[in-house]
Amino acid sequence: MTLTFIGHGYVGLVTACVFADFGDEVYILGRTPEKISKLKQGDPLIYEPGLEELLKKNLKEKRIKFTLEFSECIPKSDIVFIAVGTPMSDNGEADLTSIYDVAQKVSTQLKKGYTVVCCKSTVPVGTNKKIYELIEKNILKNKNIKFDVASCPEFLREGSSVNDTFNPDRVVIGTDSKKARETLLELHKPINGKRIITDIASAELIKYASNAMLATKISFANLFAQFAEKSGADVEAIMNAVGLDKRIGRSFLYPGIGFGGSCLPKDVNALIHISKTYGIDPALLESVTKINIESRERFIEKVASNLREGWQICLWGLSFKPNTDDIREAPSIYIIEGLLNKGFKLKVYDPAAQEKVKKIFGDRISYNQDQYSALKDCDALCILSEWNQFKEADFEKIKKDLKSDVIFDGRNIYDPIKMKKMGFKYYSVGRKVL
Ligand code: UGA
Repeated sequence: MTLTFIGHGYVGLVTACVFADFGDEVYILGRTPEKISKLKQGDPLIYEPGLEELLKKNLKEKRIKFTLEFSECIPKSDIVFIAVGTPMSDNGEADLTSIYDVAQKVSTQLKKGYTVVCCKSTVPVGTNKKIYELIEKNILKNKNIKFDVASCPEFLREGSSVNDTFNPDRVVIGTDSKKARETLLELHKPINGKRIITDIASAELIKYASNAMLATKISFANLFAQFAEKSGADVEAIMNAVGLDKRIGRSFLYPGIGFGGSCLPKDVNALIHISKTYGIDPALLESVTKINIESRERFIEKVASNLREGWQICLWGLSFKPNTDDIREAPSIYIIEGLLNKGFKLKVYDPAAQEKVKKIFGDRISYNQDQYSALKDCDALCILSEWNQFKEADFEKIKKDLKSDVIFDGRNIYDPIKMKKMGFKYYSVGRKVL
């Protein structure tokens, strides 16, 4: 099939590369000439394991073409995927400006014959219906143009998006049209995962429900981390036992400094906004967000109350999670600001995200070439994202360089007993200080 992906972020670029790899002819449409010219050279612009290789391979085999022109790709496409951003506006609502803007432009370029317009962006219920109405209104005069709209939400995770796209748990196809459903089922044939065939509104809500459930599980774990800390219990033992119940499962029950990224915080906020427009009480979702914010605030307090003002602290891990350079809504950003406000000096290290953090904090903090040089002259170490290289750290080196042997582990990556044996004063989240 010939496909167009509008947008080359995590969703657009990764999904486009995967379909190209399966032999489809793929256009990727962007709006910034400098970015498109880098993408054409095989630079994915985002840090994502395996993506550069996949992009270069499919560019070389001429299955991927980048363009800035709707007229170059839309008239040739069997399916047009909308994969542009829906950022959070000031009131928490999803900003749909880009969605309607591209839908408008698509409507002027649809070919004679049939096209499926499929939305992969996370959008509030009713958005795809509006996309349909907008296109229908624009092509009214041309009876030769046929199209349908479908919602195929995306569930890939940053840091493992290539693998997630090749091997998803499920493929959700939301449409009222039999032809669109068959076209999308045909396209997805080489991809694993259970098929969920549904209507458009349900598909739109499935995406929010999935991210809200994941966020709820994390905040639930963070709530129980507080119970554990107050009562002397161990959150890991609690979650291990709870997670063995197959109805609940163990994943996403890891407490720490809370969830960040461009998706969970934004989508929970958008859902709160959607709840209000429907007159539905958003209390559950508001609590999820509140607990999340408090998780990082408690971490700042824990550090501040156990160290002296003016001490120097080393921070390992700045991205919102490992294997990405993404710092959008990263807990680290709030923690850095909080610790600076409390008068601490900060030395930081992250394998990928330092450049981005530098753009926010400039010379207010010191950036380091590797994790061990970041420790020099510091009193304490904080772990803020769980990159493998931190999990497998050289503790002898840490002991040698760290002045006060204090570690605050915001991701619970070390064993408290081992840490005690090695002589560290070790604070984690919801686990006993031994
Ligand atoms: C999330 C979803 O997991 C994807 O399924 C979805 O497609 C994506 O959003 C999206 O909507 O595009 P992502 O934001 O890449 O993916 O990251 P997650 O792996 O979900 O992690 C989010 C945050 O939660 C991270 O900051 C992570 O450290 C934190 N987390 C995760 C916890 O604090 N505890 C856990 O148990 C799990």
